[in-house]
Amino acid sequence: MTKLLVATEKPFHPDTIPGIQKIAQEAGYELALLEKYTDKSQLLEAVKDATALIIRSDKVTAEVIDAAKELKIVIRAGAGYDNVDLEAASAKGVVVMNTPGQNSNAVAELAIGMMIYHARGQFNGKSGTELRGKTLGIHAFGNVGRLVAEIAKGFQMDIYAYDPFLSKQEIEKEGVKPLESEKELYARCQYISLHIPANEKTKQSINFSLLSSMPEKATLVNTARKEVIHEEELMKVMEERKDFHYLSDIAPDMAQQIAQKFEGQYYFTPKKMGAQTAEANINAGLAAAEQIVKFLKNNDRTFQVNK
Ligand code: 3PG
Repeated sequence: MTKLLVATEKPFHPDTIPGIQKIAQEAGYELALLEKYTDKSQLLEAVKDATALIIRSDKVTAEVIDAAKELKIVIRAGAGYDNVDLEAASAKGVVVMNTPGQNSNAVAELAIGMMIYHARGQFNGKSGTELRGKTLGIHAFGNVGRLVAEIAKGFQMDIYAYDPFLSKQEIEKEGVKPLESEKELYARCQYISLHIPANEKTKQSINFSLLSSMPEKATLVNTARKEVIHEEELMKVMEERKDFHYLSDIAPDMAQQIAQKFEGQYYFTPKKMGAQTAEANINAGLAAAEQIVKFLKNNDRTFQVNK
């Protein structure tokens, strides 16, 4: 019997599971659920006889892959797959996929939502500022970055983007002004919305030199990964510039120190919230289940990330 395990420490919206169940049933698979688990040992036990695994930000380490003797495919229901040990998966012949685009709108709405929330002093009753007319720099113009730009157009922001993997023309045709480098983007824009993945190249790459070059009343909005920020250097900028603000979807490692020193200059979500909508969960969860069926039945490897 093919067993499809959904292992989500942060569960999908409940409306997602019946859809996954239907897809599994039609394919003749047994569905197992491990939600809100609190210890790695529970995941190690549950994956033992799983053929396919759907996860969110759950960590799929070499230990998990080793424990999953029957495993053929892992789907990260979402975009970033920095939580999966791709080498360990490849070594065991396990295919890893993500579901690009399926939760992007939720993340884009949160990025803009955090900008407004903070610009309005977190709704504290005092006068805040508006987004209209402000420069917005989109760092990486992928699925989420494009949607942030679309929404920001409605707010009449002045929108720039930098993406090392896209030509100027590809950015221009979306009605956004392309810039040549990260350096130019940060030096030009009062708001920066981060959409780069976390990998060996990008970890801690958002540093003092970039952040300190931002114009007056700067706000960095991070709905990507906390690991891409050089936190000590971020704190140095916040120390030197009381007009510098950091908004992050998930608290940084140095959250406590930041909270102690920089009141009014930061906002952190209590848990990663970007993809926490019913729509995003349903889109990503169902896409994940469908991708599993297509892979197991037809060897369809679209969206494989460990080639
Ligand atoms: C993603 O990479 O898709 C987002 O960060 C969402 O992650 P989550 O599903 O763990 O909320």
